Amino acid sequence: MTKNRQVLLARRPEGQPVAENFELAESEIPTPGDGEMLLRTVYLSLDPYMRGRMNAEKSYAEPVPLGGVMEGGTLSVVEKSNGGKFAEGDILVGRCGWQDYAISDGTALAKVDPSAAPISTALGVLGMPGMTAYSGLLRLGKPKEGETLVVAAASGAVGANVGQIAKIKGCRAVGVAGGPEKCAYVVDELGFDACIDHRADDFEAQLAAACPDGIDIYFENVAGRVLEAVIPLFNFWARMPVCGLIAQYSMTDLPTGTNKLPALMRAVLTYRLHIEGFIVRDFADMQADFRRDMGQWVRDGQVKYKEHRVAGLENAPATLMGLLKGDNFGKVLIEVSDDPTG
Ligand SMILES: NC(=O)c1ccc[n+]([C@@H]2O[C@H](COP(=O)([O-])OP(=O)(O)OC[C@H]3O[C@@H](n4cnc5c(N)ncnc54)[C@H](OP(=O)(O)O)[C@@H]3O)[C@@H](O)[C@H]2O)c1
Repeated sequence: MTKNRQVLLARRPEGQPVAENFELAESEIPTPGDGEMLLRTVYLSLDPYMRGRMNAEKSYAEPVPLGGVMEGGTLSVVEKSNGGKFAEGDILVGRCGWQDYAISDGTALAKVDPSAAPISTALGVLGMPGMTAYSGLLRLGKPKEGETLVVAAASGAVGANVGQIAKIKGCRAVGVAGGPEKCAYVVDELGFDACIDHRADDFEAQLAAACPDGIDIYFENVAGRVLEAVIPLFNFWARMPVCGLIAQYSMTDLPTGTNKLPALMRAVLTYRLHIEGFIVRDFADMQADFRRDMGQWVRDGQVKYKEHRVAGLENAPATLMGLLKGDNFGKVLIEVSDDPTG
């Protein structure tokens, strides 16, 4: 490559993002100064939170400025090091954004050991989404043997791990996913006890039938119709770690129909629900345990993972648009340039 391509936020979206919200720009490859490194992006992770960064509103993180490079987790290789923290050839996980190259002094980057696992897992099962599932489920979900857990987006980066870890902890794991192919994968490959298609006309009845002893943990990934179906099934002292609300991220109007908030509040009081939101970085103290346990479970084959790979940085906008609508099947990665480990 002779140029640095960058995907910029051109306009803020209203509703679902469209191609016009993004701009592909080209510039010279930057030169690292003293103590800096030139990093070449190998994989770019696409994640639902990116939709929130495209809005101007106050949130738990700053929005991407108009004309700014879209934010994102990356796996990069050090192409040139001018006395930087890492050596040429090192593979680093960090947040270099939607671009071919970045300059860094090494801040907020960590070295990835290519002999431990395929390097792409540092953005998935052994990275942020895996840590989200592990910490949110264990710290807030507090799974106990024999309990029933429900998680939606169950074939995706976070949900797949939530259900598999719940199984390791002796729970009944019920997934929710979009379509028969994803549901079959969740049960047959990931080992969940059941998986219900949220697009089915009788989704609510099917979910109730799959949870004959009620729900003790609802790991909230989506909100919307799934949350509404869960409310009548809560057991006393149930826990609801609130991880994500993807069904709401591109909403412009309140949904029509009955307001379910009174039903939710009644369930909170009657069943003494414990509802708590979290952002993965809140549980940084669990990193070492996560690395030890998840590393072991992946090596043992107790936790399986699936990647949804798309080649070419230029395809990142369309792939993010698809992710927000359920087009992905597994952890979404953009292959930006050659993987040095093959
Ligand atoms: N709190 C944190 O720190 C943190 C960290 C990472 C992720 N998250 C959140 O965790 C959730 C899952 O993220 P992920 O990275 O694992 O994504 P993912 O599951 O790999 O992909 C998103 C999936 O969401 C599902 N979905 C989209 N719209 C939906 C709707 N209206 N109703 C039901 N399902 C819908 C689709 O799956 P189906 O086709 O199966 O419906 C889609 O494939 C997101 O809400 C994300 O924001 C939070």
